Amino acid sequence: MAVIAVTKERRAGETRVATVPETVKKLIGAGFSVVVESGAGVAASYPDADYQAAGATIAKTAKDAIAKADILFKVRGPEPDEIKALKPGAVVAASLNPYMDRATLDALAKQGATAFAMEFVPRITRAQVMDVLSSQANLAGYRAVIEAAEAYGKAMPMMMTAAGTVAAAKVFVMGVGVAGLQAIATARRLGAVVTATDVRPATKEQVESLGAKFLAVEDEEFKNAQTAGGYAKEMSKEYQAKQAELVSSHIAKQDIVITTALIPGRPAPKLVSAAQVASMKPGSVLVDLAIEQGGNVEGAKLGEVALTANGVKILGIPNLPGRIATDASALYARNLLAFSGLFLTKEGAFAPDLEEEILKAALVTHGGAVVHPNLQA
Ligand code: NAI
Repeated sequence: MAVIAVTKERRAGETRVATVPETVKKLIGAGFSVVVESGAGVAASYPDADYQAAGATIAKTAKDAIAKADILFKVRGPEPDEIKALKPGAVVAASLNPYMDRATLDALAKQGATAFAMEFVPRITRAQVMDVLSSQANLAGYRAVIEAAEAYGKAMPMMMTAAGTVAAAKVFVMGVGVAGLQAIATARRLGAVVTATDVRPATKEQVESLGAKFLAVEDEEFKNAQTAGGYAKEMSKEYQAKQAELVSSHIAKQDIVITTALIPGRPAPKLVSAAQVASMKPGSVLVDLAIEQGGNVEGAKLGEVALTANGVKILGIPNLPGRIATDASALYARNLLAFSGLFLTKEGAFAPDLEEEILKAALVTHGGAVVHPNLQA
């Protein structure tokens, strides 16, 4: 019986956990056994006792949990001491941040691990249930609006009171992927007047179907701005300048701007300049969801609330899913549960087929080397 280890997340500020009691039960049902490091789920409100009740064994330390494991589940990449504790050939499934955290990949390769970067799970229908980018981005989009509402000194909905009318907040969402769509939906639920922009033409209809208004330069380049995989391309300098001009007058009238624009494997595009931030009213709030990839907003600072001279707040909160850790962990755990089904043969034996489409796409280290084609020097 293959053993899955789940250890505490060790990266600063990480509150999520890779497996929750509900999925432990299902993993055991599928034929795995599960060992959880004591305290692994505490920050996400999953106590040891609940894991035990679900059938997991509790290990005192990460090393104890990993030593006998065939598989290690993590949210973030494992730390060097965890990697050193892996059995040769052990499988690792985690959000390895493969383009930015080469050191972890090299250490995994050196240890002989067969590591899968969950970010590389292809966006095909069959793999939707394993898509950690979507499950986490969705919650990040929700949480971004909650953080914005908290930092904003006015109300979101329009309110008519005996003492007068409170105006609805104007919210502008830049980048309408999974996070942006959920941000639009959440801001609408709170009663804000919502507009949104993206470089992918397919988003226009999605924005409108959520009751928000779409704003973009719709030229030839825009019509071809989506890759076959559904991601954004890096736009030309000319397009970016035209787009900036269009959004400039719009941003000046907004109360809240939420930016989520990313291009896989590239630094986040700069979408909001310092001058545009300065054009906003005092008390306005920006939330930069791309902050960990360099940020979309000029002046945003990782882990800080930047207060500009004109009284605008720029929230550079890292790891928004970590601020909704209980749900984020539950969804991540279900993604890994589905993914681990690929490790089993039809008869239920543990024997990952590295030629299988999804495993092949996500495989980053194997047999002592970093093997993913996108990660070769
Ligand atoms: P992402 O996190 O890579 O980027 C966020 C958004 O930023 C994207 O919509 C992108 O077009 C936009 N963006 C990039 N540069 C921009 C710029 N200069 N100005 C404005 N916006 C800019 O995107 P995410 O959330 O991963 O979604 C990417 C696509 O994948 C979407 O089409 C989504 O619907 C699709 N998807 C498909 C799935 C499936 O079929 N299994 C699952 C999840 C997402």
